[in-house]
Amino acid sequence: MSKYEAKDFNHLLGKVNGLSEAQLKAHFGLYQGYVNKLNEIWEKLGTVDKSKANYSFNEYSELKRREPVAYNGTFLHELYFSNLGHEGAVSPDLKKAIEASFGSFDNWMIDAKACLASAHGWTLTVYDWNLNRVSNMLVQSEHHVGLWPNVSVLCAVDAWEHAYMIDYGTKKPDYVNNVMNALNWNAINERFAHINPPKK
Ligand SMILES: [Fe+2]
Repeated sequence: MSKYEAKDFNHLLGKVNGLSEAQLKAHFGLYQGYVNKLNEIWEKLGTVDKSKANYSFNEYSELKRREPVAYNGTFLHELYFSNLGHEGAVSPDLKKAIEASFGSFDNWMIDAKACLASAHGWTLTVYDWNLNRVSNMLVQSEHHVGLWPNVSVLCAVDAWEHAYMIDYGTKKPDYVNNVMNALNWNAINERFAHINPPKK
């Protein structure tokens, strides 16, 4: 398998109110680390002996157990960086879907902020194909604990400490308020249009 290349998000530097260049650069470096580990895991999976896979310990088994950490660490960061940058506003179609699911756009925002405040980890606004509605999902440790099946991610917000400690220290509520005002709605609308769920 060819190596996966990290994407360049330097265009965000200086463009996200409330996130300094130092904060964003440190975060880009961490993302690059997940990409490196994902490539390392995939390379080793290409040659490792699969005949003795085992729950307690085995090299193949351990690589498979760690693969989602590096995979989600890579692609959740890409979703997050791609939906930052103060662009556009929620589209009429997505607004309608959010209102059908949460009662109002404001209720969705209140729930998203509560989700971000609830634990370290990710808050993902998703389209849930099991229940045909928009939901907020809290993904906690290791980038995959709490991840539901059969959902499409519309918006990803990172609430791990490394996402805000340089700029905010322990003032997480300030980060939460700022980051939810810094979304790139054009990107989020495009994801929703791409999955094109049935209208309610
Ligand atoms: Fe992060």
